[in-house]
Amino acid sequence: AAVVEHTFVVSQVNMTHLCKETLVTVVNGQLPGPAIEVTEGDSVAVLLVNKSPYNITIHWHGVKQWLNCWADGVPMVTQRPILPNHNFTYRFNVVGQEGTLWWHAHVPFLRATLHGALIIRPRHGAISYPFPKPDMEVPIIIGDWWQLDLPQVYRSMKNDSFDFFASGSTINGKLGDLFNCSGVPEGGYVLDVVPGKTYLLRVINAGLFSEFYLKIAAHKFTVVAADANYVSPYTTDVIAIAPGETVDALVVANATPGRYYMVAKPNQAPLPDTQTPEFTTRGMVQYRVNHSSMTNGAAALRSRRGAKEEENDEGPSGDVALAPQMPDKHDTVTSFYFHSNLTSLYHLTVPQQVDENLFLVLGLGSICRNGQQSCNRGGKNNESITVATMNSVSFQHPTANLPLLEEHYYHSGLIDVVQELPDGPPRAFNFTDKALIPFGPKELRLEPSSKATAMRRFQHGAVVDIVFQSSAILQGDSNPMHLHGHDMFLLAEGLGNYNAAKDVERYNLVNPPVKNTVLVPNLGWAAVRFVANNPGVWFIHCHYEFHLTMGMAAVFLVEDGPTVDTSLPPPPSNFQ
Ligand code: C2O
Repeated sequence: AAVVEHTFVVSQVNMTHLCKETLVTVVNGQLPGPAIEVTEGDSVAVLLVNKSPYNITIHWHGVKQWLNCWADGVPMVTQRPILPNHNFTYRFNVVGQEGTLWWHAHVPFLRATLHGALIIRPRHGAISYPFPKPDMEVPIIIGDWWQLDLPQVYRSMKNDSFDFFASGSTINGKLGDLFNCSGVPEGGYVLDVVPGKTYLLRVINAGLFSEFYLKIAAHKFTVVAADANYVSPYTTDVIAIAPGETVDALVVANATPGRYYMVAKPNQAPLPDTQTPEFTTRGMVQYRVNHSSMTNGAAALRSRRGAKEEENDEGPSGDVALAPQMPDKHDTVTSFYFHSNLTSLYHLTVPQQVDENLFLVLGLGSICRNGQQSCNRGGKNNESITVATMNSVSFQHPTANLPLLEEHYYHSGLIDVVQELPDGPPRAFNFTDKALIPFGPKELRLEPSSKATAMRRFQHGAVVDIVFQSSAILQGDSNPMHLHGHDMFLLAEGLGNYNAAKDVERYNLVNPPVKNTVLVPNLGWAAVRFVANNPGVWFIHCHYEFHLTMGMAAVFLVEDGPTVDTSLPPPPSNFQ
């Protein structure tokens, strides 16, 4: 096994899109940032040099960090943030995982521009893929372009001001030809393909907010992995991908040679919907052929004009390109089916004996600015601010001197600085009945909530079931729930309110998909199981940036096991 080394210099650079120069915080001057490519079993060492004015940490999203919680990169949970003009080296091994993961900054909003792919190939190369060997592998990173100062957006949101939008969506950093600057289309991402060849697309949603639909006109995807776990091959013309998720899909270049749009369209625009600009972005799949067959291809395309599923469109250079028919931007059903159709490629040993049950209601709430229990909520004399919650608790980042992990390791002192994450919401109600949304017509009336560093402690090896229940107030927001340090079996998901009596019957204990990020269906629920066997302090949170930064998060403390090799080792020597 090799040691794969990188130096990540975080700095601010000017980038111009849509006729506007914007100062963005990036790694090595690139957006997306550099891809880390490893073979399973390799070690990774990334020297982070912080030349930005912000405190930074990097999280290796989906990497299990077995016995290595120290490298997980959550500020004040696992480490102190890396201050401006400071360096830090992350070291971790990538063991027992194959496929596509990614890395991103774990500080509010900056992951919009601080992210990149983390690609893990099997030990014996492409021949050991459990699917036909692809001719080429291509990362497809879907993201947002913001023309705003992101730390400022965060401060404003903290202060109850939510009127901020991205300026567009991107595929591999390009806005695409639906966006233009003074009438000149922005270039889109172009994938050149050779007829008959097979491409493995490694799709990552690095966007802050939206779930996306991805389609390529006249082509189908065969999904082979999600969150770096192989799934049973699933053929579909659309991929649905929520923030934090990854999807690996094979695409065969078997259409008539020509040009085909690759379109990424958000399906969950932030409310209020009326003010949301159109964020759809398009790139291009372009067949590499000689000129005469290109002409034939274009003619063939023209003859398909008016086909039911697809429509032709003028490409930027005037010749015809085929555009896919996209799902509606309010279509959450297609996403529900996409996610429900995933099953693990392998039969799994899902533990049957459950030790702990958590029912987590995801919601929005309000807390009083003055820190008191009661205040004037909403309306003219609004004395409260909006927070995002799990069981009506909004996560408060630890403010103690030591990050929680060190507090735990040195003093087992966590008890003093955290509160127990409650088992259920303080009031039971019909979570998904829209009529019961506590929104008044003119004012926001949100569930009164509290703020705490909410934590759950699990014995080493505990089998934990969690039901994530979405609530009506979140309609229109996506809820991808991400657990650090462990993968989760996604046992079942459904629409409406979870009903223990009948829904447990539906649990897939044979080949559930294995995920680090589980999209809770809109107005629905998802049931997961995981084995808490990786000692440390792990973050669990919604990957929708507004929910995360407003507190839809908690920490799980997994205790040491009985032996040295099931216990958290001391911090690496570079910890100050
Ligand atoms: Cu991808 Cu805690 O995040």
